[in-house]
Amino acid sequence: MEKNIAVIYGDCASPEIVTQALRVLDAVAEKFGHTFTYTKVLMGGEAIDAYGDPLPQSELDKCLQSDSVLLGAIGGPKWEGLPGDKRAEKGLLRLRAGMGLYSNNRPAKIWPQLADASPLKPAIVEKGIDFIVVRELIGGVYFGEHRTYEENGEKVAVDTMPYSEHEIERIGRIGFETARKRQKKLTCVDKANVLDTSRLWREVMHRLAAEYPDVEYREMFVDNCAMQICKDPAQFDVIVTENMFGDILSDEASEITGSIGMVPSSSLGDGTRGLYEPIHGSAPDIAGQDIINPIACILSAAMMLRYSFDMAAEADCIEAAVNQVLNDGIRTADIWRPGCEKVGCAAMGDAILARL
Ligand code: IPM
Ligand code: MN
Repeated sequence: MEKNIAVIYGDCASPEIVTQALRVLDAVAEKFGHTFTYTKVLMGGEAIDAYGDPLPQSELDKCLQSDSVLLGAIGGPKWEGLPGDKRAEKGLLRLRAGMGLYSNNRPAKIWPQLADASPLKPAIVEKGIDFIVVRELIGGVYFGEHRTYEENGEKVAVDTMPYSEHEIERIGRIGFETARKRQKKLTCVDKANVLDTSRLWREVMHRLAAEYPDVEYREMFVDNCAMQICKDPAQFDVIVTENMFGDILSDEASEITGSIGMVPSSSLGDGTRGLYEPIHGSAPDIAGQDIINPIACILSAAMMLRYSFDMAAEADCIEAAVNQVLNDGIRTADIWRPGCEKVGCAAMGDAILARL
């Protein structure tokens, strides 16, 4: 098959991981007889430097013309002082919205080889950690009205959190469908004791639950959920939640699996074109040192093959190579422990390529 992939190298340490992911994609293309071509897209800090805009329309268009988008991570101290609309992060939000990617899938799964890197007690980890956070990605407070104004001699800031029924229904359905393919347990996470949006979520989710009687459905307040994720993560199969709760809970979920450097994600809308990115940031503190872990980005590329290109065998092949590297005790600094071989980012790429 021929596929054109839009590639956003990203900022700070991000180009280092994207480079490794592309090497892996090239090796897979060769092994399975595919042709992957790459279109470079500027977004985030790089685009601010080049165009004074974190995502010019021309760059978004390249993504819309591609078969899918691979992204590292964007942002960094260099661009931090800019006004809200010019921030690097705004480019990412406009990309997600511009591509209509309402469904963000963030797996939290413990790699047995890294079980002792989890900050949780062994007795909790042994019960297993394998759940997915389905995060609504283009609604809620991220896309509501934002403003700062003066009142009675002081500044006041407002961020609103809108959700409409159809926005809730389409992500709720993804939650149920995802659960149906797994352990058939869905938890809707909200703050229905305080928020109108959460009460609307429950209303819509109840309607959907009637369509999915085979899925065990329940609701949980977000504060309780944050606690339950570290107390008893084995209880979760699929969590569906609004944008900001999903942002926060998915970071927590990744950390209990050992390292945020291991967690990929997919973002999809109604078509097959998706955006694939690690859930971690651009790691400015370690940029240029060749020590960042490329695995989350490589696994994101594998997710692209699986979900957007329907290349399951190819994705399995990448995931098996990552598994083998971990079995062989090869580790970047974030997952290293005594007795293992410590490697840099490029050497981790080499090690995965050697096992493909
Ligand atoms: C993420 C990030 C982004 C988000 C930021 C960079 C806007 O934290 O992908 O989780 O909050 O969605
Ligand atoms: Mn985040």
